[in-house]
Amino acid sequence: MKSIVLLYLLFITVAHGESVCDAISFVNRAGWGAREPTSITNLTTKPLSLFAIHHAEDPPSCYDDESCVERVKEIQIFHQHNQSWVDIGYHFLVGENGKVYEGRGWDRQAAHSPGWNNDAYSISFIGNFSTSSPNEKALKTARSWMNCGVERHYVTKDFYVITHRQSQRPGYTTW
Ligand SMILES: *[C@@H]1O[C@H](CO)[C@@H](O)[C@H](O)[C@H]1NC(C)=O
Ligand SMILES: *[C@@H]1O[C@H](CO)[C@@H](O)[C@H](O)[C@H]1NC(C)=O
Ligand SMILES: *[C@@H]1O[C@H](CO)[C@@H](O)[C@H](O)[C@H]1NC(C)=O
Repeated sequence: MKSIVLLYLLFITVAHGESVCDAISFVNRAGWGAREPTSITNLTTKPLSLFAIHHAEDPPSCYDDESCVERVKEIQIFHQHNQSWVDIGYHFLVGENGKVYEGRGWDRQAAHSPGWNNDAYSISFIGNFSTSSPNEKALKTARSWMNCGVERHYVTKDFYVITHRQSQRPGYTTW
């Protein structure tokens, strides 16, 4: 149910505009002080036609640039240290400050959903959205970013959006 509401929110304005990419505040890895990945695997087939939407759940939401950068760093450390992944797990992260943070970016495989890592781009909202939605600013940013992927030919025009839960066995995650 929650997933359906979220998908609806994401889709209502997946419309087409002029260069959507330019209108988005994007923070690349250098911009948030990413650590080096311990290894890199590139995506082998682009464009992709799927986005998997996640929420980072812990740490909590961030609304200003400083705390969002802290959260992204924290998530990377958690993924590298506690999960023993080579890098932050997501392709991109979106804060409620309305900015997109580069995780593994458009070219690399990620580690977000076992079985789907070479097929889907992952976008994670920073915060726990088990019982609420990300704010309109964050939703709008995520929608625009998907359209930007189409504009830059990383994503097919007829892409799908799924929530993480839909890609995994029941109970694997709440999203
Ligand atoms: C991955 O792709 C980048 C460019 O997108 C390239 O510079 C790099 O050599 C590639 N790495 C591997 C292991 O293929
Ligand atoms: C996320 O929010 C839900 C609902 O409020 C709560 O049950 C859950 O414990 C929270 N998760 C974390 C990691 O704080
Ligand atoms: C991650 O691992 C460190 C120790 O390496 C531990 O102190 C910390 O509590 C762990 N974080 C989480 C969220 O489990």
